[in-house]
Amino acid sequence: MPERNEYLLEVKGLKKYFKAGKGTLKAVDDVSFYIRPGETLGVVGESGCGKTTCGRTVLGLYDSTDGQVLYRGEDVHQMKGKERQNFTKHAQIIFQDPYASLDPKMKVYNIIAEGIRAHGLLKSEKEIRERVEELLVTVGLDKQYAERFVHEFSGGQRQRIGIARALAVEPEFIVCDEPISALDVSIQAQIVNLLGRLQKEKGLTYMFIAHDLSMVKYISDRVMVMYLGKVVEITASDQLYENPMHPYTKALLSAIPIPDPKMEEGKERIKMGGDIPSPVDPPEGCRFHNRCKYATEKCRTEEPKLRLFGKDHYVACHMAKE
Ligand SMILES: Nc1ncnc2c1ncn2[C@@H]1O[C@H](COP(=O)(O)OP(=O)(O)OP(=O)(O)O)[C@@H](O)[C@H]1O
Ligand SMILES: [Mg+2]
Repeated sequence: MPERNEYLLEVKGLKKYFKAGKGTLKAVDDVSFYIRPGETLGVVGESGCGKTTCGRTVLGLYDSTDGQVLYRGEDVHQMKGKERQNFTKHAQIIFQDPYASLDPKMKVYNIIAEGIRAHGLLKSEKEIRERVEELLVTVGLDKQYAERFVHEFSGGQRQRIGIARALAVEPEFIVCDEPISALDVSIQAQIVNLLGRLQKEKGLTYMFIAHDLSMVKYISDRVMVMYLGKVVEITASDQLYENPMHPYTKALLSAIPIPDPKMEEGKERIKMGGDIPSPVDPPEGCRFHNRCKYATEKCRTEEPKLRLFGKDHYVACHMAKE
């Protein structure tokens, strides 16, 4: 195991529940993981499995129901005053939907300048203007765009504005919440490349949330797979692709199309049976059991914990073997 201080972020037993009528919606349910400085942790899983909720709770945008989020060893949910403000400068988010996350009534200039002003990073309007223009250029936009409103921009351009806004406060850590899902495939690679370049230049740490595994592979050092509020597998990106151990990860991987039609034809497709159960009062035992062809009685009754296989490869499956 790495030394404690090797982690930028350490999440321990994090839970985020929402009230849902008479039941409890367990959006994030006892999740533990860490992120090292300068690395990218990819987070994948089907819609509704709790990725956004996890990202937002990590940033303290949601209160937690239980557990801890330690940022440089300090509990994010206990931070107050100056400490809290410092954290909100260091940790930023790029939102899933570039259409909904930028205020249509604000000029691009003010969208980007807002954080700089809130944290008192620059005093004079001249310095702020220079900084905003520099940020626009950094994300590949024309500095004259500062005077425009967001409705004048395409999805890809809006996401660049969202990235400039996040960068404005010189963060260390960014939760990128599906920053490319709302974009055309042709634009997706550009944004991924931009995020990769910025990471290298500025030594950023990312939690990169995505729906499917295809893009995550290129950007992530390690990948965490979530299913219905739980982490089912977490390991180095290469290891996950070469040796996926959880049946759910295998199913996700087999859903990625191979560009070569011949190989695509011969490929074994692992079909998942059944539907995703509701996160309101989720099933006993392993949450994946009703869709898993290997499930036994134990899987229906006893919840599998994450177990370590080899170096840094954690899997929550009763059937997993070395
Ligand atoms: N503010 C909220 N109040 C109540 N329930 C919520 C809230 N936010 C999320 N949920 C529920 O929590 C679960 C997880 O949602 P979340 O948005 O985290 O999923 P996700 O993995 O990000 O999905 P997607 O890939 O579609 O963005 C869902 O069942 C969702 O309906
Ligand atoms: Mg989401």
